[in-house]
Amino acid sequence: MVSCFSHTERDYDLIKYEHKKHSMSVGIYFATTTGKTEDIAERLHELLSSAESPKDLADLSDLNEFSSLDGIICGIPTWNTGADSERSGTAWDSLLNDIGSQDLNGIKVAIFGLGDSSTYTENFCDAMEELHSYFVKAGATMVGYVKRSDYTFDDSKSVIGDSFCGLPLDEDSESNMTDNRLLTWSNQLKIEMKGIL
Ligand SMILES: Cc1cc2nc3c(=O)[nH]c(=O)nc-3n(C[C@H](O)[C@H](O)[C@H](O)COP(=O)(O)O)c2cc1C
Repeated sequence: MVSCFSHTERDYDLIKYEHKKHSMSVGIYFATTTGKTEDIAERLHELLSSAESPKDLADLSDLNEFSSLDGIICGIPTWNTGADSERSGTAWDSLLNDIGSQDLNGIKVAIFGLGDSSTYTENFCDAMEELHSYFVKAGATMVGYVKRSDYTFDDSKSVIGDSFCGLPLDEDSESNMTDNRLLTWSNQLKIEMKGIL
């Protein structure tokens, strides 16, 4: 005899849909030229497995999905050395105005940057601050700052006070430090994005 309480496939689909609709979501987005920022995004995802799989900005036509998230983690390299604007030299540059015009109030945002503290020591990870400023304009709550004293470099536009406005990583000159930096930062985000990661 079939119980009148047995669930059909459709019931289970509905339960899964309701669960997804109400669960918190964190997206990881990156742009890259030689693949290092993508590699870091994947490694970070392994440490923050409840976040969604990393997405390449080159595959997105707009950023409308940002406002449906609870948290956003962005990876941005610096290529445009010394520039005041469009510092990344990647797909992020053409999306900055789009980000700034969104309403991201209540959404937590963390940025990691890829750069080279040895060769580009006057402009280490400059692009992070530009992206940071557009998210601030959109009303996002910025998290994931790290101490500048943990790094050796001459100058960076991404330093605010005693901190970087995100996590700088250097796969060119200090790749041996990346695992540790990623682990420490992922634990920091689990606290600062508590309840959504
Ligand atoms: C031509 C050139 C310019 C660069 N300019 C900077 C820079 O101004 N600041 C910096 O920190 N890194 C700079 N870099 C280093 C890159 O940001 C670094 O290699 C980064 O990991 C590249 O990331 P991607 O592979 O995701 O594109 C530059 C590298 C090259 C080859």
